[in-house]
Amino acid sequence: MQEKINKIINDIQKATIATDKDLQNFQNTYLSKKGIIYDIFNEFKQLPNSEKKELGRLLNELKKAAHEKAQTKQVQKQKHNNKESIDLTRPGSYDSIGAIHPISQVQNKIVKIFQKVGFIMSEGPEIEDDWHNFSALNMPKNHPARDMQDTFFISLDPDTLLRTHTSSVQIRYMEQNQPPIRIISPGRVYRKEDISARAHCIFHQIEGLYIDQNVSFSDLKKIIMYFVESLFGKDVKIRFRPSFFPFTEPSAEIDIYWGLKTESDYRITKGTGWLEVMGCGMIDPNVLKNVNIDPKKFSGFAFGLGIERITMLLHQIEDLRLFFENDLRFLKQFQSIK
Ligand code: DAH
Repeated sequence: MQEKINKIINDIQKATIATDKDLQNFQNTYLSKKGIIYDIFNEFKQLPNSEKKELGRLLNELKKAAHEKAQTKQVQKQKHNNKESIDLTRPGSYDSIGAIHPISQVQNKIVKIFQKVGFIMSEGPEIEDDWHNFSALNMPKNHPARDMQDTFFISLDPDTLLRTHTSSVQIRYMEQNQPPIRIISPGRVYRKEDISARAHCIFHQIEGLYIDQNVSFSDLKKIIMYFVESLFGKDVKIRFRPSFFPFTEPSAEIDIYWGLKTESDYRITKGTGWLEVMGCGMIDPNVLKNVNIDPKKFSGFAFGLGIERITMLLHQIEDLRLFFENDLRFLKQFQSIK
């Protein structure tokens, strides 16, 4: 029997296992229940105890040799599989790069333009009270001008609302600071408006406020021209239109030329070719009085511009709703613009 076992060990060592099929055959021949090793163990059980000791050791060696042989092939196979999973011809994977939202990009640009001429940034809360959003801005309760800005109130409390414009920040700043004042205040505002290509119930404004001695309408005009030309270039087509706001006197609205060729040009500009981008004017003395600034000593101007409208003009975007839908196909187009 000893000879037989040694021969099998020899055979095992010589066996070549190259393919999966070889491995299968090897396992069938040696390691399965119908295999040689199983048989030989059965034979072994019938031997007298005196022979068992020496042969037992040899049998264990045989078993080990067979398992090791089969395992070597399996390890090789695994290595091979791993190799296959690294396909060097595949294109590399990459993380997609985020982009600053076009509204934020344009807001940052505008803020920088005003900072260059000495305006500093000042922000206020989106949840406002009646005083800062309306009353202090010369719109007492029941003033018809309040209807111009359909308001979202928070719960039933008529004193707590979502600000309808960034003009509320003017009041907050003037309550805390005496002239000279030069601030720029970007932020989100809310109005109960029907959503369309040119209006939304959430949008963004930038408020500007300038107060000092002897400030005149020509100062306002100069600053506005500086701003518009910095953003759109010297050839920009702009017009000042007389208007009314309770907090400024005189007041004006500023339009920038969009164009009037296609059907959507008519829709966006209400058939005029011009897009209204901001309101402005000389601060009404009543507003200065409300915040304890002496209107005999100081005068100033203010303006409030809509960032969505400016962005539409800058990038020829025909529908304002795109800014709020978070469609990546739209947003990705602004990836490379800073
Ligand atoms: N707050 C106005 C609006 O949202 C815009 C505006 C007009 C702001 C005139 C001003 C201003 O500061 O002087 O319609």
